[in-house]
Amino acid sequence: MASTSTLPQVALLATGGTIAGVASTPLEQISYQAGVLPVERMLESLPGIDGVARIAGVQWGNLPSENITPKDWAVLGKKCAEILANPDFCGMALTHGTDTLEETAFYLDLVLPPGKPVVLTGAMRPATSLSADGPINIRDAVAVAACPAAYGRGVLLVMNGRILAARAAVKVSTLDVEAFRALESGCLGRVINGEPHFYHGNEHAPPLSGACAALTGQPELPRVDILYACAGMPEDLARHSLERAQGIVLAGMGNGSMPQRICRELRTGMTAGLPVVRTSRTGSGPVTPLEEYADFIPGGMLSAAKARVLLMLGLGTAQSDDAIFRLRHLRQLFAVGGKL
Ligand code: SIN
Repeated sequence: MASTSTLPQVALLATGGTIAGVASTPLEQISYQAGVLPVERMLESLPGIDGVARIAGVQWGNLPSENITPKDWAVLGKKCAEILANPDFCGMALTHGTDTLEETAFYLDLVLPPGKPVVLTGAMRPATSLSADGPINIRDAVAVAACPAAYGRGVLLVMNGRILAARAAVKVSTLDVEAFRALESGCLGRVINGEPHFYHGNEHAPPLSGACAALTGQPELPRVDILYACAGMPEDLARHSLERAQGIVLAGMGNGSMPQRICRELRTGMTAGLPVVRTSRTGSGPVTPLEEYADFIPGGMLSAAKARVLLMLGLGTAQSDDAIFRLRHLRQLFAVGGKL
């Protein structure tokens, strides 16, 4: 084993979530308070972690992730950029609630250039639980953040031994410790007994990593609403969003389809220059261009939640008030960000 002083240094930024959660007894796994333990206490539950890397714990906040907002993403993105610019650190890991982890991870992927590893992790069981999954997830995330092979791969997510790209990872389970998957593209690698293994080299920079770096720390992003399509969906939901939002993501049926009445409403938005992105509520498979929806933007592989993040940042980077220019810019972003 390397002597402690020669080990790489990793920042561990704690934001809250179940991984820092506390329940009344070790047997309680479902009812607990998320975002309680400070980062030092989480590190105490990791004997031997100092053999993986030197760790500098940073307490960014302690929130259940359902309360994290785009303003928080901005503050977090700025903090990550500062840490990554510090030559003392070879990479960083973040602990985060799993409920909105995929949104924060994709936001960070879009605003942080793909250099030093940035690895998010979380837990499905509170820290006080029997067989808590947090400590091993932190150990694995730190190992990936300290691993030279993780360099240049964009923001990553490590849970239950799997390494996933932020763009592809989605939460697929309410309770299982195997809570995240990249359903179409699969995982990038695994952590086996604390050692990261990547299945492929990192010769291709991940699509769009750092593409919105100009907006790092920008607290006000345009409002983008998600509309969930369902049988008999009332049109006034669409009208409500058209009147208030600057962009709309439709979590459509199947391959991003929608009732005709909703289509007519949303088309008025597109015609007036308000972008509408088609995604799918199915949870897997791409949303492809279709002739009948040719004016809408297809979300490709992106989930509705991720498409919303890209649309918010895309509107922010459009740098033009001209609607045609803006829509062209957004179509290009989604063609790259949503591709298989
Ligand atoms: C949260 O997202 O903060 C609570 C749920 C979790 O971390 O699994």
